[in-house]
Amino acid sequence: MKLFTLLTGFGLSLMALNGDKSDLSSASKWQQPAAGTWKLELGNADAELRYTDLAAEKPRIKAINQIGQSKFPFAESAIKTLKSADGKIMVRIPCSADEKIYGFGLQMKNIKSSKKVLELKVDHWKLGGGRTHAPVPFYISSKGYGVFFNTARYLKVYNQLGNRKDALTNPPEVDRNPPPSQKDKQPGPWQALPSADAVEALVDAEGLEVLIFSGKTMLEVVQRYNLYCGGGTLPPLWGLGFWHRVPAAFNEEECRQEVADFEKHNIPLDVLGLEPGWMTKSYPCTFEWQTERFPDPKKFTQDMLSKGVRLNLWENPYMSKDAKIYKDMYPHAGSHLVWLGIVPDYNQKEARELITEQHYRDHVSIGVSGYKIDEVDGYDHWLWPDHATFPSGVSAESMRQTYGMLMQKMFYTDLFKKHNTRTYGLVRSSNGAASALPYVLYSDSYNHAEYITGISAASLGGILWSPEARGARNGREWLNRIQTVCFSPMAMLNAWATGAKPWTHKDVTEPVRDVINLRMRLLPYLYTSFADYHLKGIPPFRAMILENGFGEAKSKVIAGKLDSETNPYAMGQIIEKNDQYMCGPSIMVAPFYEEQHSVRSVRLPAGNWYCFYTGKFMGNNKTIKVTAEELKNRIPLFVKEGSIIPMLSDNINNSREAFGHDLELRLYGKKAATYALYEDDANSFDYLKGTYGHRIIHCDPKGEISEQASKGAALFGKISKVRVMTQ
Ligand code: GAL
Repeated sequence: MKLFTLLTGFGLSLMALNGDKSDLSSASKWQQPAAGTWKLELGNADAELRYTDLAAEKPRIKAINQIGQSKFPFAESAIKTLKSADGKIMVRIPCSADEKIYGFGLQMKNIKSSKKVLELKVDHWKLGGGRTHAPVPFYISSKGYGVFFNTARYLKVYNQLGNRKDALTNPPEVDRNPPPSQKDKQPGPWQALPSADAVEALVDAEGLEVLIFSGKTMLEVVQRYNLYCGGGTLPPLWGLGFWHRVPAAFNEEECRQEVADFEKHNIPLDVLGLEPGWMTKSYPCTFEWQTERFPDPKKFTQDMLSKGVRLNLWENPYMSKDAKIYKDMYPHAGSHLVWLGIVPDYNQKEARELITEQHYRDHVSIGVSGYKIDEVDGYDHWLWPDHATFPSGVSAESMRQTYGMLMQKMFYTDLFKKHNTRTYGLVRSSNGAASALPYVLYSDSYNHAEYITGISAASLGGILWSPEARGARNGREWLNRIQTVCFSPMAMLNAWATGAKPWTHKDVTEPVRDVINLRMRLLPYLYTSFADYHLKGIPPFRAMILENGFGEAKSKVIAGKLDSETNPYAMGQIIEKNDQYMCGPSIMVAPFYEEQHSVRSVRLPAGNWYCFYTGKFMGNNKTIKVTAEELKNRIPLFVKEGSIIPMLSDNINNSREAFGHDLELRLYGKKAATYALYEDDANSFDYLKGTYGHRIIHCDPKGEISEQASKGAALFGKISKVRVMTQ
């Protein structure tokens, strides 16, 4: 086997595992593009597509530098590489046994990846093991650094598994079946998975780019990653309102009726999502309006807009022979069909022009606000095979890893940014470097606990997740799901198959309406939280492990029971507790879900925490029990000491009413606080040119406020009410 050594800049070197001196790559030096950020290219990295090639925006180097300096997190020569006998590239990043590894994208069951082998591949959610809608090849260590494998290929990672014979820190051997005399002399219990001292990543590619981010905290690491990928996305304000997707075969009249029913039930609505039936043909798709159902799309779209309701159109990328642009697209499509539709290669300019010109003409120019990009994930049995070919020469594997990103980037750039109008939409696959793309992931899975975990998992890899509500067995479940939805990046009911409405379960219509109203009232807070995502890389919804004072994700270890057929190694199970998360800088959300329909425990991190609704002191660094009854059927929300929450002073039914609307300011705790309220025009891309500002608001415990006006565009109105929420 041939092994290689790499000598690098900064006095850091990469060593081959056996000390062989030949280079794996000529461009093998570490570069430092920004503070706390290092980049290394192995092999011919330029021959491969990088995820950052598809990032919406350029790295925000200045913002990364503003976080401050941070040291390279490893000892010299600690990172090793080799080229395997069959030509694959391996990178070995040291990692101690007590280090926790988090991330790798939208892993639905847990956020910790320690002691796991993952094959990161874009797929539907069912198979697990790293196959997921967004297998972001980025992990974060509890020691304060993150590693990003920036090459659009399948990647296999061995996290703290795979003990090497020359490792210095292998755990001692334990006799699994000691004789009675040796029983007490074992160094510990026998482990089916002895801890190894590294994360090893393997890729079958000509080259691999590796990025390392470091920071004082895991949050700083995430910030640097997001900022390197262009910063977080900033949706238009309407994107943060309430979304409702109608049944697949709805026609114009039914849609109008649905909107009227929302008005009648006094329930907010900002976006109406049309599912496949809006098109002349779907699976494969034509992308053209079905005039039997929508006789005058322009009038319909404009009528909806006049009520403040935006349209979002479902589509999948696979193009039918009946599409008017089919013939022109044919030469720009890959070798294989999906659902008998051609698969356009959007790495080609001609293909991008064809589709975006058609989309602009038929949809965007008449007022359509965005898309739900479906089916850009797996499974193997319905996507193109790994040996498919594409006219751009990009491999089938890289196409699979990036198809969702390609579409997001193309729509973002050529349909919306080009016309200086923001969009916000949905996509069913994404990957590394996606943070600045204005799309939220969703799934056909429907486990509420996993949907909540998804919010945390997404925050570790620059993606957003919608725990969409589709239906429920009873009112309690419905309320729980809508409550989670209202505290997520996209508050959406997807009734494509169920026909559900917010008022479907009459017993809970009132609290359902209340939580949607609360979402709307929180628009100023949510919008500023997204601005922090854009400007500082701080995810608007975040895993608790990124929060000071929480410690590691609480998990339950279930001891394994020996069974020669089903569990011969007596493997245990770790059940993580990821059922609470942060919303913006100050609010902790702990939804009711599953069997815990109306009672649950909540872990309050260190620091004083107050009930959002009453201002009652709830505790500091302890676990408490909350019930829906005591909360009057509201979602459990806790606010950190010294926080200001800006809200609209009363309920609104559409985000356009938020413009110029009076604010209510709430101060939680006994200390004075300052808050920087972000404002811009909430619709265009002018903020990227600096047309935005912050209103600096100071509030003391007596409720006295002072305010420094923003230099940017005004968005919200005056502060007409101040509430000091301390009991
Ligand atoms: C599924 C998608 C659903 C819905 C449906 C329409 O693939 O996940 O949300 O859009 O297609 O056919």
